[in-house]
Amino acid sequence: AGTEENSYERADAIARYLLERTGRRPELAVVLGSGLGGLGDSLTDRQVLPYAEIPGFPTSTVAGHQGNLIFGKAGDRDVVLMQGRFHAYEGYSVHQVTLPMRVFHLMGVRAVLLTNAAGGLNRDYAVGDVMLIRDHLNLPGLVGCNPLRGPNDERLGPRFPSTSDVYDKRMRDQLAEAFKQCNFPGATRLGVYVYQQGPCYESVAECRMLITMGADAVGMSTVPEAVVAHHAGLRVCAFSLITNMALLEWDSAEKANHEEVLQTGQLRADQLKSSVSHFLANFSLD
Ligand code: HPA
Repeated sequence: AGTEENSYERADAIARYLLERTGRRPELAVVLGSGLGGLGDSLTDRQVLPYAEIPGFPTSTVAGHQGNLIFGKAGDRDVVLMQGRFHAYEGYSVHQVTLPMRVFHLMGVRAVLLTNAAGGLNRDYAVGDVMLIRDHLNLPGLVGCNPLRGPNDERLGPRFPSTSDVYDKRMRDQLAEAFKQCNFPGATRLGVYVYQQGPCYESVAECRMLITMGADAVGMSTVPEAVVAHHAGLRVCAFSLITNMALLEWDSAEKANHEEVLQTGQLRADQLKSSVSHFLANFSLD
C-alpha cells in the first residue's frame, strides 16, 4: 500500500522468491538491533542470504550492522532472522524500512520479535538492562511520517488500524520468562519506547522532554516495523537492550556515542543469545 516501495506486488514477489529459494516455512521472524547481530550464530541448519542477493530488497549501510537474512532452526522451530535492519536515518523511506514485515507476512510468518539498542531515559534503568516494550511513542508518525501513509491496500491490512494493542502480552510474558530462565544478568524492565528518526542522539532538552512525555527508553528503530507488522496481522513482541543512559545534565562531560552502544551489545551478547534462543525454541502462539 502507499508506494511501489512496499506494495503488495513487491512484497509478494520477494516472499515467493525466498520460499522457493530456501524451501523454508518460518513461523517467526526476528530483527536484530545494533550490536546484537551475533545472535544469528545461535541458529542451527543455517542458510544465509545477503540482502544484495534478494531481488527487490534494500541493502544495509551502518557500521556494526550486517545485512543478511538468515533462515535456520531454534530447537525444532523454523525461524528467519534479519541480521541488520533498515533505518530511516540512512535515507531509506519509511516504506523501504518496513517492507520486510510485509514480506514475512506473505511468507506465512505469524509473529515477529523486534530487538534494538536504546538509550535509557528512566532513571531506575541501568546500562545492560533489557526493556520489554509495552507501548511506544511514534514521534515521526504523529507528525506526518507514518509508514502507512498513502493509499491503503486492503490485502495488507485495514485503512485505520489500531495501535493500542501492537505489543502482544503473551509473547512478552514468555520473553520475560526466557530472560529469567537463562539468568540474564541485567534487570528485565517493562516500558515505553520512543522512536526518534535520528541519526543525531538527543539533546539534553530533548531527553528531558521525552521523559515528561512518558518514555522510558529512546531509539531510532522498531516502531515503523511494529506498526506495519501489526497492520498486517502479525503478532509483535519487542525489546530494547539499554546500551547507554540518556544525559539529563547540561554540564556533563560524557556524550552518547555509537561505540558505547556497540560495546554494551558485545558485553551482553552471549546472555542475549541464550535468552533469545530459549524464547525462540519454547514460545507458543496460542
Ligand atoms: N538514543 C537514540 N538511539 C539510541 C541510543 C540513544 O541514546 N542508544 C542506542 N540507540
